[in-house]
Amino acid sequence: MNPKAIKIEAQKEIKRVKNLKNLDKIFKKYLGKKGKIAQVFNSLKKLSEKERKKIGKETNLVKVEIDKMIKKKSKELKEKERKIQIKKERIDITRPGKKIGVGHLHPLTLVQREIFEIFQSMGFSVIQGPEVETEWYNFDALNIPKDHPARDMWDTFWLKNNKLLLRTHTSPVQIRYMEKHNPPLRIIVPGKCFRHEATDASHDIQFYQLEGLMIDKNISAANFKAIIEEFLKRFFKTKVEIQLRPSYFPFTEPSFEIDVRKEKGKWVEMMGAGMVHPNVFKAAGLNPKEWQGFAFGVGLDRLAMVKYKIGDIRLFYQGDLRFLKQF
Ligand code: DAH
Repeated sequence: MNPKAIKIEAQKEIKRVKNLKNLDKIFKKYLGKKGKIAQVFNSLKKLSEKERKKIGKETNLVKVEIDKMIKKKSKELKEKERKIQIKKERIDITRPGKKIGVGHLHPLTLVQREIFEIFQSMGFSVIQGPEVETEWYNFDALNIPKDHPARDMWDTFWLKNNKLLLRTHTSPVQIRYMEKHNPPLRIIVPGKCFRHEATDASHDIQFYQLEGLMIDKNISAANFKAIIEEFLKRFFKTKVEIQLRPSYFPFTEPSFEIDVRKEKGKWVEMMGAGMVHPNVFKAAGLNPKEWQGFAFGVGLDRLAMVKYKIGDIRLFYQGDLRFLKQF
């Protein structure tokens, strides 16, 4: 093919090309190692010397010109693509912004924080324990041996191997703490508990408890009453009535149940409490002749329900934003 024809053909193709990818194909087709121009150079040796010189020169010129055309087109296409890109990325800075919703704390977290503050101001430390417990800490060490009928007070989720369980209350942390720390001591233990029970408005299979424990040489039930009244007064920020009923828990003697009523409302059973049983001290390695103390276990959910007038405990665990956004 003669170089002039090649040039005309290339010119047409370059004019029509719409993007850089296809332009590259054109480059290869004409100027590549096996392209049309290379082919012409290869065929020169078949010609006479005179013709070879003439056509060789022409071909060189054409090669330079095609190269120039491609470079020019390449610049144009790059510019065009950049403009399209800029247009795509353009944002309307006059458009009103989107408000980002800010989350907030769960009502049970709010209640816990308040409770921590009140008890900390009375010298209590906040302690945690495991949710998966052994039978020893959840029952035996709390003076609830295997065949004791009191075990039926706690419907238990046993784990597969039947040795571990989901703690049914926060009381096992009493033992764990007393094993490692010498009295005098004052702790509260917040945490999740689990019971294998039918659910209703006031029972869920999971709930939060707050355990309290105060041990010293001369602690009496009167100390308990004073501390718990002070706590409730500060927590509800209004007058609350409490009533103590005699009750039974294996790990306390005597034991009582505390009902709470706010603003002449309904009495709500809120906590169990009592004086720590000698067997509990023994299980934790302390001498019951030397130490005394009270313990209590309060339903955190119940506290929150009374405080915020919530009618159903299950609302805490359903993640329903219509409920959660009210706090
Ligand atoms: N652990 C008991 C329960 O879950 C509550 C309780 C009662 C805790 C009396 C105590 C206590 O520390 O002294 O029902």
